Amino acid sequence: MGLSSALLFVALLIVCLPWAASAADQPQEPVCIQCHSQLPDRLGEPVKLWKQSVHAENGIACNGCHGGDPTNAADAMNRSRGFLGAPKEADIPAFCGRCHVGVLKDYLASAHGRALGKGGPTCVTCHSNHLVTRASINIINEKTCTQCHTFERAKLIKDAMQATETRIVAISGRIDKLKAEGVDTERMEKATFAVRNRFHTLFHDVNVTRVTQESGAIGAELAKQEKELARIDEIKRERKIAGAIVVAALIVLAILFHLLKKTYD
Ligand code: HEC
Ligand code: HEC
Ligand code: HEC
Ligand code: HEC
Ligand code: HEC
Repeated sequence: MGLSSALLFVALLIVCLPWAASAADQPQEPVCIQCHSQLPDRLGEPVKLWKQSVHAENGIACNGCHGGDPTNAADAMNRSRGFLGAPKEADIPAFCGRCHVGVLKDYLASAHGRALGKGGPTCVTCHSNHLVTRASINIINEKTCTQCHTFERAKLIKDAMQATETRIVAISGRIDKLKAEGVDTERMEKATFAVRNRFHTLFHDVNVTRVTQESGAIGAELAKQEKELARIDEIKRERKIAGAIVVAALIVLAILFHLLKKTYD
């Protein structure tokens, strides 16, 4: 580190240490955030972005990715405490892949992974580094995908995925509605979750043929779910009709009873 950043570091230590000590017995936010949120520009920006990320939501803080000691302001960024620093471009996939093991494997085997360091995209190209949000096929857009090649091939994958995505969203919506009505949907929920996961692991191969093939198999699974939902709707409809018949019969009985009573009186 340069002399000016070293001085800045020492100054920040003096500011942060008493604070850290006084709050020592409460479960507290990592020292990384306490210190970096006071820093300007490229050193402070990550905190603001990260706060809105899926990682923040799931308790993965700065040290989850960058390593280091989140409880010790003085030694937080010491390599001996496992601090990894900021990865160079070629190291980003392995950096993220420590946790996203399956994605890393698919990515490395793909046309994109094979072009790593030779103009191919890394995880950060598509997901960003600090403002990582829940993934969806909306990431496949002109802005992201035409930085290096035409949108044509990207669009083939997106189209292949769009129809399946729409079906999954629709099925999930219907299951949620049934659940709210008190129907036991546990089995269907599990099955849909499994199909959804299988579908969402497809992308990183960036292999249009594979997406098309697998979408067929996944489509067959979804058809089963749709059939089950249709069956439940049918049962509900029959129950409604049966209910209406019972009510009508009761009304007729009531009228008859009333007439009978009148004649008797
Ligand atoms: C007391 C203040 C302070 C604390 C605590 C702190 N940092 Fe830093 N951090 C800095 C300063 C100042 C710099 C810029 C100078 C440098 O690179 O060392 C920096 C730089 C960085 C960089 C960029 C390094 C590079 O190679 O460009 C990363 C990544 C980072 N910190 C992560 C963390 C993580 C993770 C933690 C917690 C485990 C943490 N920091 C704790 C002050 C702090
Ligand atoms: C999901 C993993 C992840 C998390 C969580 C994360 N970072 Fe980073 N960070 C990265 C990656 C990857 C890079 C390298 C970025 C690049 O080259 O685009 C980076 C780069 C940085 C840099 C260098 C920025 C620059 O422009 O030189 C700093 C400083 C930093 N991170 C601080 C933090 C702080 C502070 C936190 C917590 C608020 C944090 N990071 C949380 C992945 C992460
Ligand atoms: C310390 C482990 C860890 C590291 C390192 C890490 N992540 Fe994550 N990531 C998680 C966890 C935990 C979740 C939330 C649980 C989930 O949905 O998988 C998550 C969620 C995500 C999601 C949303 C998943 C979804 O279902 O939509 C994306 C995208 C993502 N991470 C990308 C990245 C990228 C890019 C990097 C590197 C810059 C990275 N992650 C580094 C642990 C990590
Ligand atoms: C070319 C752009 C691109 C690159 C490069 C990329 N991703 Fe993705 N990623 C996507 C898209 C698009 C989706 C959403 C797929 C979907 O919704 O079916 C996604 C989904 C995800 C998910 C959630 C789905 C799952 O399988 O868990 C995670 C986590 C993730 N990516 C992490 C990473 C990591 C880690 C890397 C680097 C090793 C990476 N991505 C590289 C575009 C990319
Ligand atoms: C940083 C540059 C870069 C970005 C951004 C990028 N790609 Fe690529 N892409 C490549 C390179 C390099 C190749 C491999 C060489 C080639 O086939 O042109 C490739 C190949 C492909 C292929 C063909 C794979 C094969 O097996 O033939 C598809 C499909 C693809 N990319 C989709 C996407 C999608 C979708 C996005 C956006 C989410 C995207 N790419 C973003 C660089 C990029």
